[in-house]
Amino acid sequence: MEKLVIEGMRRLEGDIKVQGSKNSSLPILAATVVTGKSCILHNCPVLCDTSAAIRILNYLGCKAVRAGHTVITDSGDLKRYDIPDFLMREMRSSIVFLGAILSRFKKAEMSSPGGCEIGLRPIDLHLSSLQALGVRTTESDGRIYCDAPDGLHGAKITLSFPSVGATENIILAAVAAKGTTTVINAAREPEISDLADFLNGCGADIKGAGGGTVVIEGKQDFFDYEHTIIPDRIIASTLLVSAAVTGGDITLNSVNTEHLMPVLPYFEKSGCVLFTNKDTLRIKAPRRLLSPGLIRTMPYPGFPTDSQAGIMAMATCAGGTSVIIENIFESRYKHVPELIRMGAKITVQNTVAVVEGVSALHSAVTQATDLRGGAALVTAALAAEGKTSVRNIRHIDRGCERLEDMLTQLGGKVKREKDTQKQSGED
Ligand code: EPZ
Repeated sequence: MEKLVIEGMRRLEGDIKVQGSKNSSLPILAATVVTGKSCILHNCPVLCDTSAAIRILNYLGCKAVRAGHTVITDSGDLKRYDIPDFLMREMRSSIVFLGAILSRFKKAEMSSPGGCEIGLRPIDLHLSSLQALGVRTTESDGRIYCDAPDGLHGAKITLSFPSVGATENIILAAVAAKGTTTVINAAREPEISDLADFLNGCGADIKGAGGGTVVIEGKQDFFDYEHTIIPDRIIASTLLVSAAVTGGDITLNSVNTEHLMPVLPYFEKSGCVLFTNKDTLRIKAPRRLLSPGLIRTMPYPGFPTDSQAGIMAMATCAGGTSVIIENIFESRYKHVPELIRMGAKITVQNTVAVVEGVSALHSAVTQATDLRGGAALVTAALAAEGKTSVRNIRHIDRGCERLEDMLTQLGGKVKREKDTQKQSGED
């Protein structure tokens, strides 16, 4: 096991390139299964989750190799339509392979993804949408079995919730189906648009991605394609929080400022000054932050749930009281007890967290409980007096490409160390 040890009270400054988006890389890696052609993907972050997706591709019979931040795939020789339990367990979001495998094989089999630290993560919207496209689905012994003996056909699908994963699975299943598919109340996240841009580049016909209604015309012929994955807007917001809590002055390079529109007003409200142009963003933080006020997490273009833990870390050391309402996941406050160990003043009632800013946080031994909560503990530690440890950093490594290197490059003192202490609950 490993931990990060963070020396606090160091002002961050300088500039840094933002990594490619984890949540765009995963559906696009799955999408390479659909085309049967070869693809070159640039700006693909080196993460546990993207490595897991590459392992799945190779298991299915695709050739997928990584060269730095470029992944080269060729799905011409796809041999398998099942994902074994040991690969599904590595990454629950492998469910996004379902639609892609169905497009190629008209059948698919994988373990039910199950829940995770932030919630139950049901897939009812995925399955009901695939059924509308002509797929028969059954679940037994923790496995999902899908087949479409007559092939997949277009349909009109209304999502009761703009689920990101369900929208991605519909697009991946409809892109080679017979006829037209219309998705009403589709997710509007930038990662949906990036997936559509990739597939359209391969020869698909997807219109309206990024809006609430997406129309997919099924196609049969696809081409080789080269694509650059969009920057990671959540990592960008994590770096903005890191600058904000240290009174820092940093510039993010190769960032899409449009994708950050839902979060930027809260940094300005906290007294930060922002200088934006197309793909760079500079943040100059005040010595003492003001409260970011009331934050409600919502589907895009609302405030992203993945940035909730980060903005909470910022609120813990801002003047005044902030209120956070988590509307997307039912247990996404596991970072709260860990922040309280560092001296934060937070009370939680159901989905509402009230954060009373303190003058300074102090060092503590903390545990990452999930990816975004863990990253938030590291950012809070940057503002704490003394040395803070964040344990269980395998959660953080799922989505942050060496967070310690990013923060060190900006003047932070963050070290990755072996964690020899017994984990809580270990006998
Ligand atoms: C994606 O998860 C992201 N993961 C999540 O990021 C992100 O938090 C989430 O979208 C929301 O933006 C990836 O892209 C790999 P949803 P996803 O389906 O697709 C309910 C991170 O830290 N729901 O939009 O699973 C669900 O319970 C991760 O990078 C159903 O009820 O999110 C939740 O309450 C965490 N039935 C809400 O919708 C379904 O069939 C949002 O889920 C599907 C979802």
